[in-house]
Amino acid sequence: MLNLSEREQQSYFQVYKRYPLEVDYAKGCRVYTTDGKVYLDFLAGIAVNALGHSHPKVVEAVCTQAQKYMHISNYLYQEPQVKIAEKLKEMSGLGRVFLTNSGTEATEGAIKLARKYGIDKGKTEIIAFSGGFHGRTYGALSLMDKPQYKDGMGPYLSGMKVIKYNDIIELENNVNDATAAVILEFIQGEGGISQASNEFANKIVSLREKFGFLLIADEIQAGSGRTGKFLAYQNYNIQADIVTLAKGMGGGMPLGAILADEKLANVWSKGMHGTTYGGNAVACASGLVVLDELQNGVMENVNNIGNYFIEKLHEIKSKHSDKVIEVRGSGLLLGLLLNFEAAELVQVMLKHNVISNAASGSVLRIVPPLIIGKAEVDEFIDALDKSLKEIENRL
Ligand SMILES: Cc1ncc(COP(=O)(O)O)c(C=O)c1O
Repeated sequence: MLNLSEREQQSYFQVYKRYPLEVDYAKGCRVYTTDGKVYLDFLAGIAVNALGHSHPKVVEAVCTQAQKYMHISNYLYQEPQVKIAEKLKEMSGLGRVFLTNSGTEATEGAIKLARKYGIDKGKTEIIAFSGGFHGRTYGALSLMDKPQYKDGMGPYLSGMKVIKYNDIIELENNVNDATAAVILEFIQGEGGISQASNEFANKIVSLREKFGFLLIADEIQAGSGRTGKFLAYQNYNIQADIVTLAKGMGGGMPLGAILADEKLANVWSKGMHGTTYGGNAVACASGLVVLDELQNGVMENVNNIGNYFIEKLHEIKSKHSDKVIEVRGSGLLLGLLLNFEAAELVQVMLKHNVISNAASGSVLRIVPPLIIGKAEVDEFIDALDKSLKEIENRL
């Protein structure tokens, strides 16, 4: 009989570099595999499971909503959808909400909204930044420069430019009256936990004042409380015009959002944008629990534990200074820049029963559930220390 990985290889498109784990179930910060092992999960479904796996309040909300109704269509008014829209408005300070199923759909909608807003003003160009990740659909890919996501599948959208991240001169040289929007992640997740500098963020804002483009913050990975603020750009003293969200806000259910300033409220008229599943009632019920929990102590936990975690990572960096170049990130969106392929460390960490992830080649990406405590951080640090020692001994 074939095992699960063999069956997957014979049936699924071979696009994922899967870890050799067959999942039985997952609870809290742990993943339990069919061979009886238990893993500490610091990947959290790629920065998705903000409250850990199957949080009891999420499970209860999902079951309760599923018993009432699951999918109704966006022709009808639904309490969970409106409730989450109101909550997102309150937490972001932005006036309008559109719900999606995924991050990339939020990106597509943001592009359409920005273009529609700009078209009458002669603004159609969108500027994005190298190393950014905005999704796998054509609009999103057109805003990205990594060949491994794009090669051989063009042509992509015109009017999109990807310029160097954190480069003020390039920014000044490329933004002009034709710019409809500038889109960025204030902390690039897939791009290796690279943070926008204050000067860069301030320059975007001053150029926005000069040219009147829209600032789109892609908060799909860095948002939903992951940096200790609801939105990562709230760590800077600025306000975006459009925000995209997904991942953490759904609590494990497929849910994303476009949030926009009230001045954009009438850009779309009836029928101009839409989705069948986006804002699905069960996903909204799950998301509402996440947002409530974020406000009731979870973001505070991110700040406290994040600082503790960063301290511990600096200790690791000092101890393994020949292997660890830099500690990156804030809150619980953390990274370690290594002088070797992070994928190698990820494999060794698995032997110590810890799930982590590599981003941008040489960065160990650390995106645990936002509910972790010091004990989980210590367990991770212990496994990291042992894994780095093992790699050192091998060389
Ligand atoms: C910053 C960012 N934007 C967009 C996306 C795309 O989201 P999804 O995979 O839900 O389409 C991701 C996914 O990793 C992301 O990290």
